[in-house]
Amino acid sequence: MLAVVLVGGFGTRLRPLTADLPKQMLPICGVPMIEWVVGHLATHGVQEVGLSLGYRPDGFLNAYPDGQIAGIPYRVAVEPEPRGTAGAVRFATDEFGVDDTFLVLNGDVLTDLDITDLIEFHREHQAEATIALQPVPDPSRFGVVSTSLDGQVKEFVEKPEVGRAPSNNVNAGTYVLEPSVIERIPSGIEVSIERETFPELARAGTLYALSSSTYWLDTGTPKQFLEANLDVLLGRRLRRAELPPAHLDPSAEVVDSVIGIDSRIGAGARIQRSVLFRDCQVGAKASVINSVLADSVYVGEGARLEGCVIGHRQRVEKGEHLIAVKRPDE
Ligand code: GDD
Ligand code: MG
Repeated sequence: MLAVVLVGGFGTRLRPLTADLPKQMLPICGVPMIEWVVGHLATHGVQEVGLSLGYRPDGFLNAYPDGQIAGIPYRVAVEPEPRGTAGAVRFATDEFGVDDTFLVLNGDVLTDLDITDLIEFHREHQAEATIALQPVPDPSRFGVVSTSLDGQVKEFVEKPEVGRAPSNNVNAGTYVLEPSVIERIPSGIEVSIERETFPELARAGTLYALSSSTYWLDTGTPKQFLEANLDVLLGRRLRRAELPPAHLDPSAEVVDSVIGIDSRIGAGARIQRSVLFRDCQVGAKASVINSVLADSVYVGEGARLEGCVIGHRQRVEKGEHLIAVKRPDE
């Protein structure tokens, strides 16, 4: 089965981490996010992945020059301009040629969803399209879905006003689609799957949805990115990661943190709830709390970082204090 993974966003809220990398190349416990997504697909029978994006395919092509991600062959479809979530599906499937049931995924979601189960449900109901749902406490930031008892979608409302959501079940960003869905999407223009295609399918009575409570995280903000790393580190996901070797002084204190390969932590330094990419250097008695440091960041002796996101190769000088007013969540 083919899976089209939408990776066309600019990762604006994760700047400066995304200044020179697509969001899906950022590391979760040392492994790029896209490998987590594709690796998960591989465990559910996906044999080919199509990356759908609007700019900079080189971020992926350079990282995976042999045409495989996590052991699965991949291709890219590069839109001439952003086509929206449905327009991107139309564009990518026109490029790849699709004549069988296929998957579409929001590439910024990390999940342990049982996709095999979702496909089975889709087939049992002879659905034209099936959406995975996730129950959440505040649905207003998502696509919200209400269904009848057998799972037929009655209503799909993208980002409803607070208090207006028809349920607590939100679109989890994994879809099983029949090729006939492609015909419903006009080609060459921007189309939203959430605002146009799904409401149309709901009206036609051919859209189904299945709710399951599983590990699920949308990773758009620094706070969520940090969370995604800690979830793997603290064993909240099905798959574990081997942490790369780092150089820690025996008197350094590292709590709930991911220290990237070749990074060095000096004597008496304290790292807490933070993610350091590769080749960072943290001086003696410095402290890094609730922060994300990209590759090759230098933190001088006695410096203090709290709630910070520091870009590639930046320097925080000796004794400097950078304390965010609130935790990084935008
Ligand atoms: N190729 C391509 N072209 N990809 C796109 C485009 C485009 O024009 N626009 C968005 N994408 C990709 C993004 O990179 C992301 O992976 C995915 O489509 C969803 O877009 P977001 O911008 O992240 O949307 P969202 O998070 O606000 O909402 C979506 O995800 C929620 C779950 O996380 C919607 O699908 C909601 O309904 C859903 O609940
Ligand atoms: Mg998103």
